[in-house]
Amino acid sequence: MAIEREEILPKYWYNIIPDLPKPLPPPRDPPDAEFSRIDLLRKIMPKEVLRQQFTVERFIKIPEEVREAYLNIGRPTPLMRAKRLEEMLNTPAKIYFKFEGATPTGSHKINTALPQAYFAKAEGVNHVVTETGAGQWGTAVALAARMYNMESTIFMVKVSYEQKPQRRTIMELYGGKVYASPTNLTEYGKKVLAENPSHPGSLGVAMSEAIEYALTNNYRYLVGSVLDVAILHQSVIGQEAMKQLDILGEEPDILIGCVGGGSNFGGFAFPFLGAKRGEKFIAVGSYEIPKFSQGDYMYDFPDSAGLLPMVKMITLGKDYVPPPIYAGGLRYHGAAPSLSLLIKEGIVEWREYSEPEIFEAARLFAEAQGIVPAPESAHAIKAVIDEALKAKKNHERKVIVFNLSGHGLLDLPNYESMMKRLLK
Ligand SMILES: Cc1ncc(COP(=O)(O)O)c(C=O)c1O
Repeated sequence: MAIEREEILPKYWYNIIPDLPKPLPPPRDPPDAEFSRIDLLRKIMPKEVLRQQFTVERFIKIPEEVREAYLNIGRPTPLMRAKRLEEMLNTPAKIYFKFEGATPTGSHKINTALPQAYFAKAEGVNHVVTETGAGQWGTAVALAARMYNMESTIFMVKVSYEQKPQRRTIMELYGGKVYASPTNLTEYGKKVLAENPSHPGSLGVAMSEAIEYALTNNYRYLVGSVLDVAILHQSVIGQEAMKQLDILGEEPDILIGCVGGGSNFGGFAFPFLGAKRGEKFIAVGSYEIPKFSQGDYMYDFPDSAGLLPMVKMITLGKDYVPPPIYAGGLRYHGAAPSLSLLIKEGIVEWREYSEPEIFEAARLFAEAQGIVPAPESAHAIKAVIDEALKAKKNHERKVIVFNLSGHGLLDLPNYESMMKRLLK
C-alpha cells in the first residue's frame, strides 16, 4: 500500500557522528602536503555532499525529490524472515533480513548514488565520475545519473572488467561509459601502467583515476563508501528496518552486516546503535583481505594516489592489492572511520571468514530461501549461521537481524569459480 510505504521510508538521514563515544578524528591533509586534499574535495564533490560530509547535525532532511526517487526504485526494501533457514539450522533463534538486493541495481549502493547525483544535478553539473570494483557501485551510479539525465564515466578495476562483462553491459545499458582501470586516460593510470603494464587494477587505483578525471574535466566525483556522507545516506536501511521490526513487534538482539568500506554495515546498524536497540553488533570482513585482524588503526589515504584527505581508519595500507583468485568481494583496504572507531571502542565486534566458509553459507542460504546472495553478503550470512547455532547450543531465542546487501545473480562467475575450486 502506497501510504504504508511512504510512512516506513524515513524523512531524515541519520548521522552517527554526534553520538559516537569519542570525537571522530577529522579528515586531514598529510603533514608535508604540497597541495590541500580538502580543497581538492571542494572541486570534485557536489557542494551539498561535501557539506553533509562535514556536518555534525544528527538528522538531515531528505529532499522530497530524493524521497520520491527512493520510492521509485522500490524503497522501503522488504524485511523478510528466513524461516526455512531457521528450520534447516534447527535453531530457536529468529532470523530476519533486510533485502537490499531488491533495488533495480541489485544492491544498497543506489541509496547514496541517488542523492549524490541529485545534488550534482542541482548545481548544474551534467557528468559524474566514479570507480567500481565488482560493478555494484558503478551500476548504481550509472542508473542514478540516468535518472537525473546526466552522463556517467566509470573506472572499473581491470580484473573485474574482464571477469564481469555482464555488469559492464548493465552500466552501458543505463548509458554509462566504462573503462578498465588502470587506463591511459589519466596521469596516475599511465604511471601505474608504466611501472607494471599488466597491473590487474585495484579499487584504490580506480578511485584515483576517477578523481583525477573528474578534476581535469570539471565533472563531479561520487563516493561509494568509506566517507561519512555515504554512510549517512545509507541510514535509510536501518531506519526502515527498525520500523518494520516495530510493525512485527520484534526487538532485535544481534545485528550483522558485511564490510567492504563499511557503508551497508553503517547504514544498517548505526540507526539501531543510535536508538540503543540491540545488544550485539557484528561487522564481517574477509579472511583473505584481513583488515580487522591485520590492519592498523591509523591515518591513511582512502585512494592509492593519495588525492583524498587522509582519514583515521583500520587499514591494510592504500597500496594493498587483494589476492587475484579470491572471488568473495570485500576487497577494499580500509574500513570507514566511524566504524573503525566503534570497533576500537569495543562497541562493534568483528569477524573474518574465508572463501570456503562464505561459499558454504551462500549455498545453504540459496537452498533455504531461494535467494542467491552477493558473495559480499554471504560473509554476513556465515556470521548469522554461527550465531544461530550458538543460540541453539545455549537454548536462547535470540532475534538476529542482518543486512542482505545485494543479490548474486550477476556474480555467478564468482560462484562458478568457487564451485570449481572448492567442491570436490
Ligand atoms: C552487495 C555488496 N555488499 C557489500 C559491499 C561492500 O561495501 P560496503 O562495505 O561499502 O557496503 C559491496 C561493495 O561493492 C557490495 O556490492
